[in-house]
Formats: sequence, structure tokens, C-alpha cells
Amino acid sequence: MEILSGKPVAQKIYERIKPKPIKVAILIITDDMSAITYLKSKVKKFSEFQIQSEIISFDSNISEKELVLKIEELNKREDINGIFVEMPLPKHIEPLNIFSKISISKDVEGLNPINLGKILYNQEFIVPSTAKAVIELLDYYNINVEGKNVVVIGRSIIVGKPLSLLLLNRNATITICHSKTKNLKDITRSADILISAVGKAKFITREYIKENSIIIDIGTNYIDNKLVGDVDFEDVKDIVKAITPVPGGIGPITTAITIENCLKISSNYWL
Ligand SMILES: NC(=O)c1ccc[n+]([C@@H]2O[C@H](COP(=O)([O-])OP(=O)(O)OC[C@H]3O[C@@H](n4cnc5c(N)ncnc54)[C@H](OP(=O)(O)O)[C@@H]3O)[C@@H](O)[C@H]2O)c1
Repeated sequence: MEILSGKPVAQKIYERIKPKPIKVAILIITDDMSAITYLKSKVKKFSEFQIQSEIISFDSNISEKELVLKIEELNKREDINGIFVEMPLPKHIEPLNIFSKISISKDVEGLNPINLGKILYNQEFIVPSTAKAVIELLDYYNINVEGKNVVVIGRSIIVGKPLSLLLLNRNATITICHSKTKNLKDITRSADILISAVGKAKFITREYIKENSIIIDIGTNYIDNKLVGDVDFEDVKDIVKAITPVPGGIGPITTAITIENCLKISSNYWL
């Protein structure tokens, strides 16, 4: 069994990006522990690349209108190069009404519908970081998805949907599963590559897995303050061909891509 560590993949991304003094605004409307932990590590890493962060936090009862007004103000501010809106948003806020207001030139996360729509045309410039992180991992370990049965569990706008399209653009045969999927195990057991973005600790056990398949665990969950993925690592490790660890898998690559997205957007620099 091969462990697909994210650390060398992230390192390779850091080697190809050039630091630049820029500033990003990060809007956070949550007290979700995993989001806050991730934000702290992200901001610390940003500063190593000369990226300053202005964190703007809101109570979860903020109205959609107030949030849009803030984004419009940040769109106009010349000292702000990029805008993040941390997910998840409170239920009363429609993500489309927020992400469509972020100027394309400041859309660090690639969640403006124009940037997301470009993926449908096989044009990938600013792509949601976690989805791109999976592609970087596959490329680094020379895992070719063409013609493979790839099952993605999760259809969120930030992970599952864009990732499925990126894989489709690379000629994988994609199945997208979600909470209404019937006979999930039968589908996941057909996967050459199984990707889980569910957000449930130890959700994927060996009954879900085809022997000798490749498992990519995007999930970040906490058990007793300890970060764990969606996959029950101990249960599956002796039947899989390769697997990403949590922590140390997709997480560090996501951070590297986020930084790359900031620098790309601020300079129109294209790799
Ligand atoms: N490593 C990283 O850098 C990184 C970055 C982003 C996210 N994450 C993690 O990745 C996970 C997913 O994030 P997200 O934002 O995509 O979460 P999300 O918006 O909550 O989406 C979860 C998806 O899982 C599906 N699902 C839930 N229960 C299921 C079940 N029993 N069977 C099959 N599908 C089920 C949901 O289906 P429905 O659509 O039907 O509700 C939904 O599509 C979370 O743990 C998050 O913390 C990690």
C-alpha cells in the first residue's frame, strides 16, 4: 500500500510560485471549528509568501444584503487584491448571491459563476483550490484518470462538483454520489479511484472499496479534537493500492493552491 502524502506535492507547488506583496480580504461568517482552524493555518502560510490578510468576521445572523455591500466595498478597494468568503455560509444566505458579486479579478477561490463556468469549457484558470489539489496529487503520483471509473462522493459547489468536472476534462468516467444515492456501496465498489468529500468521520470502510483501488480522502472531521478523514484508514489500509492520509494529504495541497490562486489573480501571471 502506498501512502499518497500531500507534502511533496505542496512543496512542488511552492517551488513554482513567486512571492509578491499583496493583500487579501477574508470574510468569515461561521464559528465552525474546522473552518477556523483551517483559516488560521492558511493566514500563517500566506504571510510566508508576502500575502497580507485582512480578516473580517461577521455574526451568523448577518443579512445577505450587508454581506453583498461589504463585497462591493472590497471590490472597489485598490489595496485589496483578492477576496475570500469562507464556507460554510449560514443557511439564510444563498451562495450564488454572494459569489456572483465578487469581482472576477478578485475571485481567489474561483467561485464566481463565470470562473466556475469556464471549467465547463475545459478552461481552467482560477479553480476552487481543493478540487485542483486533487488533480495536483494525481499528477504528482502519475495517476492517469483517463478511462478510469472514478467515483466522487459529494456534490458541493466548492469540492465535489468542480472536481468532477476537472476529472471529466481529463477523460475519467465519473460517477457523482450524494446523500440521496441508493446502493452507495455497490457504486463505490466499482471505483478504480474513490474520492470522498462527505464530511463524516470513518464513513468509508472496507465494504465500500474495491480491492487494489486508489482512495482519496478529502474529508476533514474532528474526533476528540483530532483531525480525521472520511475514510477508516485502519480498516481499509491492507486492501487498497494507495491512499491519501488525513492529516497530510489533500489539506496541505489545498493551501498551496490557494496561495497560487492569490498570486495568479494579483498579477495575471499564468504558469
Ligand atoms: N482538505 C481540505 O483542504 C478541504 C477543503 C474543503 C473541504 N474539506 C472537507 O471535505 C468535506 C466535504 O466538504 P464540502 O464543503 O464539500 O461539504 P458539504 O457541502 O457538506 O458536502 C458534503 C457532500 O456529502 C454528501 N453526503 C452527505 N452524507 C452523505 C451520505 N450519507 N452518503 C453520500 N453522500 C453524502 C452531501 O450530499 P447532498 O448534496 O445530497 O447533501 C454533499 O454533497 C468536509 O469534511 C470538509 O471539511 C476539506
